Amino acid sequence: MRTPFVAGNWKMNKTVAEARELVSVMGKELAKVPNVEKVLCPPFMSLLAVANLLGGTDLGLGAQNMHWEDKGAYTGETAPGMIKEFCKYVILGHSERRTYFGETDETVNKKVLAAQKHGLTPIVCVGETLAENEAGKTAEVVRRQTLEGLKGVDPAFATQIVVAYEPVWAIGTGRASSADNAESVHRDVVRAALKDLFGSETAEAIRILYGGSVTGANAADYFNQPNIDGALVGGASLKSDDFIAIARAASK
Ligand code: PGA
Repeated sequence: MRTPFVAGNWKMNKTVAEARELVSVMGKELAKVPNVEKVLCPPFMSLLAVANLLGGTDLGLGAQNMHWEDKGAYTGETAPGMIKEFCKYVILGHSERRTYFGETDETVNKKVLAAQKHGLTPIVCVGETLAENEAGKTAEVVRRQTLEGLKGVDPAFATQIVVAYEPVWAIGTGRASSADNAESVHRDVVRAALKDLFGSETAEAIRILYGGSVTGANAADYFNQPNIDGALVGGASLKSDDFIAIARAASK
């Protein structure tokens, strides 16, 4: 049995004061939702403040990106060890990072291996663009991103990895993938690639999240699918009621 997993990706939203406010509004109720791994991923600036508020709860904390090197002359970057001071999780290879900041399968792979080295749980994002989708390349792109992104990962560590399938055309657009479509990509592409990488038993243990316009209203449709193990939530994770509703849907 895979424990359901729900992560909120706040992206570049909320000042430290606003982050504290949001966590104080939603933290208690969210922490009460049983049998779901729940993770908040605020911007770097707020990690310390949010970490202080989450102490003693079962809510996890994640960063939205990291560099792969341990330290050095990389202006503006954050090293794995710095993230590890506050966080257990880190989102890697989000499509916005791929699109706007030049991340590639190769750099995502370096980051995944750095997460492994430092014992951070990576939430590795894959997903096709609208053009790729329309050209019928979804399976090819998602398979490649999964295989390349997780290349060289130790099978013993692989069970800790979380993969998020986020079709780029569904992110922040309100145009969510149908649950059936997401399930077929999760099963036939992502989990199949994980089997090729790590073997069946390990692949069956890895959580695969759906992301892209998930809301409190549509979350249950996804979680009813056998290969959708949770959600990576953007916009709705900034709304307390919505995010709590998503966590509750995952808990059922
Ligand atoms: P969205 O974003 O829920 O706002 O579509 C999802 C994501 O980018 O992780």
